Amino acid sequence: MTEQKRVILVTGANKGIGFEVVKKLLQQSSSKATDIILLGSRDIKRGQDAIQQLGSPTNVHLLQLDTSSKENILINNAAIAPRENTIEATRTAFATNYYGIKMLNEYLIPLLRENGRIANVASGVGPMVSYLFSKELQQKYTSPTLTTQELDNIVEDFLSAFESHNLERIGYSSEIPFPAYTISKAALIALTRIQAREYCNNKNISIYAVCPGFCATDLNNHAAGSRSAAIGADSILYVIDTPANELENGAFYQDGKKLPEICDDEAKVKAFVEHSKTLLKPKQ
Ligand SMILES: NC(=O)c1ccc[n+]([C@@H]2O[C@H](COP(=O)([O-])OP(=O)(O)OC[C@H]3O[C@@H](n4cnc5c(N)ncnc54)[C@H](OP(=O)(O)O)[C@@H]3O)[C@@H](O)[C@H]2O)c1
Repeated sequence: MTEQKRVILVTGANKGIGFEVVKKLLQQSSSKATDIILLGSRDIKRGQDAIQQLGSPTNVHLLQLDTSSKENILINNAAIAPRENTIEATRTAFATNYYGIKMLNEYLIPLLRENGRIANVASGVGPMVSYLFSKELQQKYTSPTLTTQELDNIVEDFLSAFESHNLERIGYSSEIPFPAYTISKAALIALTRIQAREYCNNKNISIYAVCPGFCATDLNNHAAGSRSAAIGADSILYVIDTPANELENGAFYQDGKKLPEICDDEAKVKAFVEHSKTLLKPKQ
């Protein structure tokens, strides 16, 4: 089994003590192969020079970071959409698409400055599969008083039911395509609403869920009929660049529009279910 990597960010690390800290970390035999070191420097050139002085180790990466900047923004974009419908793949999808984002936000929110912003990159598939939930399950996901612990319980119940092939018994329709991915995104949209509520009074931080739209990327094997990733990026940047007073904290957006957490268009959901059957198949 490979050793768990530590990710270490050292700010102001292009010279002085910060630089020495990075140097020592590299000299520690335990850290050489396993740590990922982010060398923080507010000036790119000075950061590049520092990395060069260290011998350009492959595990040291430059992060341009001015710690006095007024607003900090986190865009949680990473996600996976496993092709396999196994419990292992499903747990890995949730570790990345739900728990990974939840934990990263919990760690980083205390470090964000006043008026900081977070975009959780979710997907329009979340509201569409939520349409296929039982009414009781829909109410659980969208309850305005839902807590993170309760949402974790919903997620764990989903994973257990997936493993024991009992999803329908707890309200997940058998029609739901690619549940590992789609349910993780429904959970992320619910998590965004909860975290926005929990953290809004803390330094005026706002958190949005956002969908880039259906984009041609590796995630969907560059599926026919999809838009460019650049257009998808615009959709994400809308919730970063728009003044916070024009957005609803905790809400879900795509292409500059707020979307419901449960899709209200049956025809659209049906078309999505049909279309999904052609997606995420390995390339021929
Ligand atoms: N494409 C679409 O149609 C579409 C639609 C709706 C929402 N989205 C969302 O948009 C976001 C970007 O997707 P994409 O289409 O650009 O997918 P992509 O081309 O597959 O890129 C995914 C990125 O996430 C990274 N990643 C995956 N697991 C990670 C992990 N555990 N830690 C760190 N990085 C990890 C990947 O890195 P590696 O290269 O190392 O794997 C890659 O850089 C995702 O949140 C996705 O769910 C996409």
